[in-house]
Amino acid sequence: MSIPKECKRLIEVDFPIAAVSAHSAREKSIRHGHPSTLHLWWARRPLAACRSVLLGLLLPDPCDKHCPADFKKKARELLEKRYNESTKTDELLREILLKFIGEFANWDHAANAMYLEVGRGLVKAAHPDETPVVVDPFSGGGSIPLEALRLGCEAFASDLNPVACLILKTLLEDIPRYGNAEFKLKDDKGKEIIVQGLADALRHVGKQVKQAAEKELAQYYPPDPDGAKPIAYLWARTVRCEAVGCGAEIPLLRSFWLCNKAGRKRALRYAVERPKNGEPFVRFEIFTPKTDKDIPAGTVHKADATCPCCNVVLPAARVRSQLVVQRGGADVQFDAKGNRIGGSTLLGVVTQREETSGKTFRLPAASDYKAVFSAQKVVAKMPKSDLPDEQINPIRPSPNARGLSAPTRYGIETFGDLFTARQKLLLRGFADASESADSLLREVLSLAFGKLANASTSLCRWDSSRDNIQGIFSKQAVQVVWDFCEGNPLSSATGGFLSAVEWVAAVSENWLSSESAQVQCADACRSPLPDKSINVWFTDPPYYDSIPYADLSDFFYVWLKRILPKHPLLTLRFDPTTKLTPKIEECVWNQSYIVDGKPKDGAFFEHAMARAFAEGRRVMSDDGISCVVFAHKTTEGWESLLTGMFRAGWMITASWPITTEMANRTVARDTAALAGSVHLVCRPRDLNAGVGDWSEVKTAMEKRIREWLPTLTKHGVRGADAIFSCLGPALESYSKFEKVLTQADREVPLGGDPEASEPQERGFLAYVFETLSKEALRQVLGDAQTEGYEEDARLTALFLWTLQTTKTNGNGKKAAEVTGDGEDEGDEEKPAKAVGGLSMPFDTFIRLTRPMGIHYPDLQGRIIEIDKGIVQLLPVHERMEQLLGERANRKDAEFNIQDFRQGELFSKQATKSDAPKLASKTQTKSGNQKDPNELTTLDRIHRSMLLFSLGRSTLLRQVLEDEMQKNKRFERLALSLNALYPEGSDERRMLEGVQAAMRGVK
Ligand SMILES: C[S@@+](CC[C@H](N)C(=O)[O-])C[C@H]1O[C@@H](n2cnc3c(N)ncnc32)[C@H](O)[C@@H]1O
Ligand SMILES: [Zn+2]
Repeated sequence: MSIPKECKRLIEVDFPIAAVSAHSAREKSIRHGHPSTLHLWWARRPLAACRSVLLGLLLPDPCDKHCPADFKKKARELLEKRYNESTKTDELLREILLKFIGEFANWDHAANAMYLEVGRGLVKAAHPDETPVVVDPFSGGGSIPLEALRLGCEAFASDLNPVACLILKTLLEDIPRYGNAEFKLKDDKGKEIIVQGLADALRHVGKQVKQAAEKELAQYYPPDPDGAKPIAYLWARTVRCEAVGCGAEIPLLRSFWLCNKAGRKRALRYAVERPKNGEPFVRFEIFTPKTDKDIPAGTVHKADATCPCCNVVLPAARVRSQLVVQRGGADVQFDAKGNRIGGSTLLGVVTQREETSGKTFRLPAASDYKAVFSAQKVVAKMPKSDLPDEQINPIRPSPNARGLSAPTRYGIETFGDLFTARQKLLLRGFADASESADSLLREVLSLAFGKLANASTSLCRWDSSRDNIQGIFSKQAVQVVWDFCEGNPLSSATGGFLSAVEWVAAVSENWLSSESAQVQCADACRSPLPDKSINVWFTDPPYYDSIPYADLSDFFYVWLKRILPKHPLLTLRFDPTTKLTPKIEECVWNQSYIVDGKPKDGAFFEHAMARAFAEGRRVMSDDGISCVVFAHKTTEGWESLLTGMFRAGWMITASWPITTEMANRTVARDTAALAGSVHLVCRPRDLNAGVGDWSEVKTAMEKRIREWLPTLTKHGVRGADAIFSCLGPALESYSKFEKVLTQADREVPLGGDPEASEPQERGFLAYVFETLSKEALRQVLGDAQTEGYEEDARLTALFLWTLQTTKTNGNGKKAAEVTGDGEDEGDEEKPAKAVGGLSMPFDTFIRLTRPMGIHYPDLQGRIIEIDKGIVQLLPVHERMEQLLGERANRKDAEFNIQDFRQGELFSKQATKSDAPKLASKTQTKSGNQKDPNELTTLDRIHRSMLLFSLGRSTLLRQVLEDEMQKNKRFERLALSLNALYPEGSDERRMLEGVQAAMRGVK
């Protein structure tokens, strides 16, 4: 018997978010053989998160009275394979199930036979009659359907984008089907041979493709006379100095470093030559720098170029115009005889000998230019359509995303302009050489070709600290690179073709699912699936304007369509007006495309998402379950997405934030708690769900939060994670009804104007945040209402509480910094920019503080600073002058207790310039206006913290004696704050000092 509709699924009652977050973060540093390294796709979801969420969605809660007994029996048997602990009671069984989910999230366990047996066994035990069908209509790189296959489900994966679809097909159809197949191939002599498994077949054919390409191309990468082979050429674009009487060529260099590795430091420097007849020029030299100071400063800074011969600055606009004329300036300009007369200049060549792995740097030789000249001549004769002549979209997609538009400002207008002539020849050569491969292998090899293209553009850099090439997409934004690196993909170095093939082969070897998924190119707003046909709808849609997938993917598409001209996934035409990937249907904010006469903006995105949600609801069976991943950079935008889901007939039942940043990274600790992704769990709402009564809905919501928040805290789920974990349960009470009406029959919307007073205007979410803030404060300050803390204390406590991160059970190994070959995840969930100190987005700040009656403008400049949508909690050190007067900064400043004892009126005693700046009007709980100069409890705690840090221990002791005689508030607030200031922060250290001093006073 399958799980009854009434039975809660595990994820609706609990989820091991700390363990799953830690494994998700760690997974980012795993490379070789990880499915994400098959081909670049942006904003890939960690497999750890997908696997565990799927299990939570598929398994019933054993504590639910509707949970099938048979499931519990089988689950107990299965879990015995791993755990000795008792699962006797349903509560214990639930606990162990959650523990298993947390452990199985570990990448090291993903292919472990025991974990697979238990994981799949549990799914089977929960769905004994039919295999669950998992659908992801925004599949991208395929993390969700891949994990569905791993757990023994049927998976249906679709995406609008043909490049994504090709990745999906390889990962979810080809590798499972042919991973272990026998391939009949030819050896180098043309004799038939049998090769076992897709990975080895790829290696075999990859080698042959490389050999064939090498035959044609080797002449363009001539070896040195001593046999060393060039592995990379380091170029600089050039402009002409326009200073009167100069006219020198300025090579544009960001840095003169060649190798910045300890023990092997190499760099360039130059001398200026001033011939009698002609312009001055620079002559380069390679040397071993002793200190950083030996290295010349770059010639280009923020797009302004400085002439190395006369030091005059050529402004950015002129640099740009000169490069526009050169179509970006990546190619060398030659005269008819092959003499260089302009364009890019070769700075140096990195060479390697076959026998050694060490790299050598040398200056350019005539043969280097000769090879480029020959390549240019061949390319000039190629049919135009052989090379990508499609235009790059020059319009910036949105204020938050640049897509590929930046290089177009420098004359790089077509995709072909992204490559030097030799790079074009090379890529075309590999494309031709792969033609002889059988169609399946050719299709899979095209992904290796994508890696090759990524590392073979004139926007690739030489990474002097790692001695390797960075791909065009190794950073989020594609920018013009002044001094670029052209690799030699015939070599075995990174960026080489065989290393690209090896990455693909390794994925194929590691991912051995015997079942394949169904992959289709489809618009999520028009699902090809029939009504009520699926069990799980789990998807991770784009988020507003974060990533213009289609624009970016065109980089690969323009080559793929030439390599696989008849491929069904690449020839499907959604939009006949473009020769590129479909843009109109794409669910993103991209103002460069017009739909119904209007640029695609936030409203378009919301509307498209609502249509996709409605399709999800249509294809979902009545007893199915769903999960939608949303970024939660800010709470803005949430209202409309949730409203879209609600209107489409979904009921939200749970929400789990999963952070993918390591909590021990500074930026993560200070800001990232608010940057992650929330998994919203939902169910199809009954068609006859009826109307809810507002006061009952509100009471139910409050009760749910009041019960849930302390449970989360007990599990170590804290701060913003706790807020987002409460949203789902809070929304359940509202979204289970078709609509919610007040007594006067006014409909209460989900979102609204949080400042309004009536529910029908204010909207449900405002009440949720109000309840959350109140509960959070009650947790951290005791009953804030009766204690009567001033608003600065309440704000500080709430702020610090929100920034707390979930405890990761000590599992937070530091993730290695990864750049690899450009496969970095493009995060849709980058942490808000750290401003220094502790910060959070204004939008979240306001939602939390407003319901608490906190009037933030009065506190600006005192305890918070607001800039560019980010609110910063001022470090206590920065309050020195405010609280102790200007003289506090003077070494010889003398304070004595009398200054402090004159009431709180320190400033009245002080000279004008010494007056603490406490200009705000602080409102007491009773509404009385306080003297603006009177210090609040928080001020007095901060003042003591400052005295501690100034080493004024006697004075601190006297002040504390006074404080502790007055009332308990000082002591209690100090205690609460001590638990809230981040570990390792200055504030925590100072406050601990104050508390130690307080113990001395007692
Ligand atoms: C956040 S990504 C999915 C990433 C994926 N979960 C992964 O782990 O690789 C969102 C995907 O939605 C796709 N997309 C955008 N609009 C779409 C539409 N109308 N129909 C289907 N897919 C669409 C994009 O091409 C992109 O691959
Ligand atoms: Zn000059």
